[in-house]
Amino acid sequence: MKRIFFSALFLIGFTAQSAFSQTPLEITVKADQPVAAIPSTMWGIFFEDINFAADGGLYAELVKNRSFEFDAPLMGWKELNSNKYSLNASSGSALVINRGEQASSNPRFARIKVNGDNGYGISNEGFRGMGIKTGMTYHFSMLASQQNGSTVKIKIELTDANGKTLAVANLSPQGTEWKKYTIDLKATNSDPKAKLTVWFEGKGVMDVDMISLFPAETWKNRSNGMRADLVQLLADLKPGFIRFPGGCIVEGRELATRYQWKKTVGDVDKRELIVNRWNSEFAHRPAPDYFQSFGLGFFEYFQLAEDLGAAPLPILSCGMACQFNSAEVAPMDELDPYIQDALDLIDFANGDGTTAWSKLRHDMGHAAPFNLTMIGVGNEQWGPQYIERYLAFTKAIKAKYPKIKIVASNGPAPDGEMFDYADKTFRALNTDIIDEHYYNKPEWFLKNAARYDKYDRNGPKVFAGEYAAQSVNTVSPLNQNNWETALAEAAFMTGLERNAAVVNLCSYAPLFAHVDAWQWTPDLIWFDNLKSYGTPNYYVQKLFSNNKGSEVLTLLSGNAPLTGQQGVYASAVRDKNSNEIIIKIINTDNKIQKANVKIEGVKKLNSAANVTLLKSDAKEAVNSIENPYAISPAEKEIKISNRNVSLTMEPLSFYVVRIKSL
Ligand code: AHR
Repeated sequence: MKRIFFSALFLIGFTAQSAFSQTPLEITVKADQPVAAIPSTMWGIFFEDINFAADGGLYAELVKNRSFEFDAPLMGWKELNSNKYSLNASSGSALVINRGEQASSNPRFARIKVNGDNGYGISNEGFRGMGIKTGMTYHFSMLASQQNGSTVKIKIELTDANGKTLAVANLSPQGTEWKKYTIDLKATNSDPKAKLTVWFEGKGVMDVDMISLFPAETWKNRSNGMRADLVQLLADLKPGFIRFPGGCIVEGRELATRYQWKKTVGDVDKRELIVNRWNSEFAHRPAPDYFQSFGLGFFEYFQLAEDLGAAPLPILSCGMACQFNSAEVAPMDELDPYIQDALDLIDFANGDGTTAWSKLRHDMGHAAPFNLTMIGVGNEQWGPQYIERYLAFTKAIKAKYPKIKIVASNGPAPDGEMFDYADKTFRALNTDIIDEHYYNKPEWFLKNAARYDKYDRNGPKVFAGEYAAQSVNTVSPLNQNNWETALAEAAFMTGLERNAAVVNLCSYAPLFAHVDAWQWTPDLIWFDNLKSYGTPNYYVQKLFSNNKGSEVLTLLSGNAPLTGQQGVYASAVRDKNSNEIIIKIINTDNKIQKANVKIEGVKKLNSAANVTLLKSDAKEAVNSIENPYAISPAEKEIKISNRNVSLTMEPLSFYVVRIKSL
């Protein structure tokens, strides 16, 4: 959506000097003095299955617990017209059967016994409801086998929250072999809280498993696909990389529940479900129905990266469970399987199809390599036990794949004893990339805009791997994605951009949150079962990424970078392709500020500049499902004379100025 803005100053003819904060800022951009190239990976995204980001979110499956593998096998399901406590249940019953080792990755199925024509059904509630849209087609599928002599037929019904029918279809599974049955349903109305009921009619016994419902309209209309609106929001960011699958989910609360990528590829019905670590992490936000079906697994993440034109950045368990939880480690002499997972992943992504793992990628429909160039060893680890494991991984990976860059973690905090210890150690080891995380109050971000100005240009590169300003406190459920946090992040990001010589990758975290099922806030993108919106923080990310440029230019106020003088922060880049100079300038002050920007080192500039403004009058302002664009970018043109840009900045505002040099 393109909006045009009119300056409040212009509209109300505001000229009173007292409304201006201090004196005009004199800024110089040295357009002929690039100081660093901006890597293609500069602005990326961090994906983690937290807040129902995968199942119930990006992954478009609408049925929760489709294969009865949750700890409580019928969680999410409700039996209709059944009397469990009678041997002659009135209409039917469901018995969950566990095949154990015989089908270890999907052991359970439901045996449905139907007594007559009264109608027995199992109804699925979806992920806090199912998002069903009028006129849209939905693909239903299930595995079924019918016992000899049984004459059970199936009616599939979608209903809204009040029980009104939205769509109906019929299926007649035949034979005692497990077979997949599919049928389409077209919805006659919309509801974000719809339900699916599978009715069993007739008499007999039918086994069912993998009961699934997908919208036909997924991203690129793929089967087993992703929600198109959510991927579109990601695509609009034009991310340079995508980090997956997290976050703490990589580590697991204990080693047994770590993320194991090998169990997330291949046939969807053979991917072994496990609990999601965010299921019980926060007592104040319990999510007992939060599991990982892995329908969205590593193949799909690589494919998403490819679709987005983003470099894939997988992060793997280094044999250490979350140090905030169990802190379990695999002993050093039992680390090989973990290391082998990393080596095999590189093969899966890049191999030529002749090795076992690359053949699987090939068989899954992707003969071309995914061009993996980086891999993360561990998520938020710290202490000597991490360094030991990082070294073992690095030795093995570099021996086989010397060109792969390794991302090392520098724990959860951006300073302190553990941070300094790891930073010193990784620098001595000449590590490729160090992952730093910062979840802090807005003031921290403002104070740290110059954090990287003194980092060694010849040392390891930095991955600002997880950051978000917290309006209240880290992990407070009261945190808001408000304008104050977004503005502080924008100010901080000028420092990341200015230091692209050192900081090569940056990502806000977490990425997604379901409005009815979140555990952690703030988050970049929020959604319900039908709608989604970008927060003000999302638009900050988008403006940086969409105006990335190709080289950093020197921008000075007096003799120093602009890192908060009079509450103003700025950075400048040149886009070599479009031959534009791009200035990002943030006014965190409550007053109007004037900036005179002199562009040096260019022969001639266009007589007009394109200006994008992101602003709000209130620091507390937020976007929402009801008002998704309350804070969103607006554009206008301003005149330029004699290589001078004169910008009157509104209070609490973020401007991106693009000027073509001729
Ligand atoms: O982004 C949420 C969590 O914050 C991540 O899982 C973890 O890495 C960090 O502590």
